[in-house]
Amino acid sequence: MRKLLLMVSALLILALPADADGQKTIRVSTDNTDMIFQVNDKGRLYMVYLGDRLLNADDASRFGWSVYTGTDGSVSQRGHEAYMASGGEDFFEPALAVTHADGDMTTYLYYKDSQTRAIDGGTETVIRLADRKYPLEVTLHYAAYTRQNVIKAWSEIKHGEKSDITLWRYASTMLYFNEPAYYLTNYHGEWAREAQPATQQLTFGKKTIDTKLGTRAAMFMQPFFELGIGSPAQENAGRALLGTIGWTGNFSCTFEVDNVGGLRVIPGINPYASDYRLKAGETFVTPEFIFTLSDNGTGEASRNLHDWARLYQLKDGKGTRMTLLNNWESTGFDFNQEKLTGVMQDAARLGVDMFLLDDGWFASKYPRDNDRAGLGDWEPNPVKLPQGIAGLTAAAEKAGVKFGIWIEPEMVNPKSRLYEEHPDWVITQNGRDTYYYRNQLVLDLANPKVQDYVFGVADKILTDNPGVAYFKWDCNSPITNIRSPYLKKRQGNLYVDYVRGLYNVLRRLKAKYPDVPMMLCSGGGSRCDYEALKYFTEYWCSDNTDPFERIYIQWSMSKFFPVKAMAAHVTDWNRGASLKFRLDVASMCKLGFDIDVSKMSEQDLNLCRKGVENYNRLKPVILDGDMYRLISPYEGNHAAVNYVSKDRSRAVLFAYDLHPRYQEPVPNVRLRGLDPERAYNVKEINLPDGREAEARTYTGDWLMKIGLPALSAADGASHVYELTATD
Ligand code: DGJ
Repeated sequence: MRKLLLMVSALLILALPADADGQKTIRVSTDNTDMIFQVNDKGRLYMVYLGDRLLNADDASRFGWSVYTGTDGSVSQRGHEAYMASGGEDFFEPALAVTHADGDMTTYLYYKDSQTRAIDGGTETVIRLADRKYPLEVTLHYAAYTRQNVIKAWSEIKHGEKSDITLWRYASTMLYFNEPAYYLTNYHGEWAREAQPATQQLTFGKKTIDTKLGTRAAMFMQPFFELGIGSPAQENAGRALLGTIGWTGNFSCTFEVDNVGGLRVIPGINPYASDYRLKAGETFVTPEFIFTLSDNGTGEASRNLHDWARLYQLKDGKGTRMTLLNNWESTGFDFNQEKLTGVMQDAARLGVDMFLLDDGWFASKYPRDNDRAGLGDWEPNPVKLPQGIAGLTAAAEKAGVKFGIWIEPEMVNPKSRLYEEHPDWVITQNGRDTYYYRNQLVLDLANPKVQDYVFGVADKILTDNPGVAYFKWDCNSPITNIRSPYLKKRQGNLYVDYVRGLYNVLRRLKAKYPDVPMMLCSGGGSRCDYEALKYFTEYWCSDNTDPFERIYIQWSMSKFFPVKAMAAHVTDWNRGASLKFRLDVASMCKLGFDIDVSKMSEQDLNLCRKGVENYNRLKPVILDGDMYRLISPYEGNHAAVNYVSKDRSRAVLFAYDLHPRYQEPVPNVRLRGLDPERAYNVKEINLPDGREAEARTYTGDWLMKIGLPALSAADGASHVYELTATD
């Protein structure tokens, strides 16, 4: 029925005169946002508006395209061209730059036609542009998700020239603003220090956020940003755009303010060392750029993205998530079947759903007993695991937990059988010193044979062992020694074709095993993008699980991703923090443990068991509810966040005292998103001594206007409150 409705509305939309050839105004709308394009009298396409949705349809066609009168009096068509190409009359950063087969470096794109069709949750507008001198075509795509106010934009480039053309710019899209001021917040980092925000005003000139790391792409810069329009972005007020690029490789986003104060935003693949040779007839598809615009600050913008991601992008976005016990922090590489059997029994005692076996279980000729050998040889280590994976899945079944396993199939240690047998499958240089990152090299996923091999690694584990219920897919090295043996003279295609090769593998895996949840990990949180999340149910935000640090990392990442997609574990990092504090911080995301349960006191074990029980009850609120960031750790010595179920009948408040100053005044925490008309029972949970707290009743109005005294001046204290509507 739903499909039928979609088809009928698709036909209706296509039949509207707005899509007829020659139409001069094209409108891409969500409930609150309009993006309007116009074709000028020369046939070129301009973005004339991006902002709040216009109330009157007629107003959409009132815009005139920008005509620029230069200081010398010359008049040109310069303006906000929808997909500006290099070599024209615009003297700022283009979206597209092409060296044609004959060496010419100019491209002018003219409007051909457009159509809008219904898609699940909104509309997709497709606009075709073409050069008139060269057989080159660009198709712009805008998927607009009506209720979530999210727009995804991407482009396709193809040509029919006599021989290859070279693309040296190929942005996903271009956005334009004409406002008095712009403030960019980007997120940068390092291993164990991911997603640190930095805000600056954008003034004349360019600021680019990008990466050149290839595989472990987001190690120094995350592929997302906040743009405060008019004033720096705030949580609950003001106009803000949240944007993110869905590309698991080198990305780039350029922000350029021009001589008249206009801002253009140009997101896409980083063209660095990637002059891409495109054959005639081939289509170059750019990554999706995903953005949402809000007039009520980043809080609302984040909730838009969270809803959209759960409904339309994230693998199993509507499904639930498993709690787990991982062994990386407690055993490292030092384990065997017997020890792991004990850990699985500990997982059952803890009450989590799954045991996740980490690095170190494989390779026989060069056993993976440390990070210097074995990557590439994905057979179980016969000394550590004489009964293989089957022995482990059997032990997990006996213990009553599911079994998940770590792999890093894109990589190889030179000390491996794989490397000895297939040196030509490795990205590396001949005749130069080799640079090893974590003693490993990256496989050449541009090569279809290597794609088959990588797919085969995961496929074999799953077909041989139906008991394997989960993958953690790691990626610990950037691309080093950049040369693909497969691409020969087309080395400029390597960074792009690598990522496409990876997606081919992930697409095949998802098609064959649609129900296997997978965690994306990259030496902590160096891979965190929405294209990868089509194939992964969650990602690992950071190896830094010190709860004080983690609060900041989670705060930043929650701006762009729903906490359902953000894995967080209770570990022994920063033992100075109480176990309760660590448990509470991890319970704000997708909860797991990576800790030696056998060494826990009875009291600590009970705290964690109870924490898991509470979490299981609250999963629908935390993972599928609306998130409100209340008190920012970046603005003081406390932090607070609350989640509210969609029907506003349930909520959870997490409140933290980080390192408050002596006798620092502490305000109440005012909640958000509750129903002011309803009364809520409020009960503190996750108490360290196993006590059951008394519930007290407050109206939603009180809780939002007066708030709860949930903070204190204590160092490292935390409190969790469960709220349940009384009606
Ligand atoms: C890096 C990851 O972030 C860790 O969680 C762990 O899986 C190690 N790799 C294993 O080598």
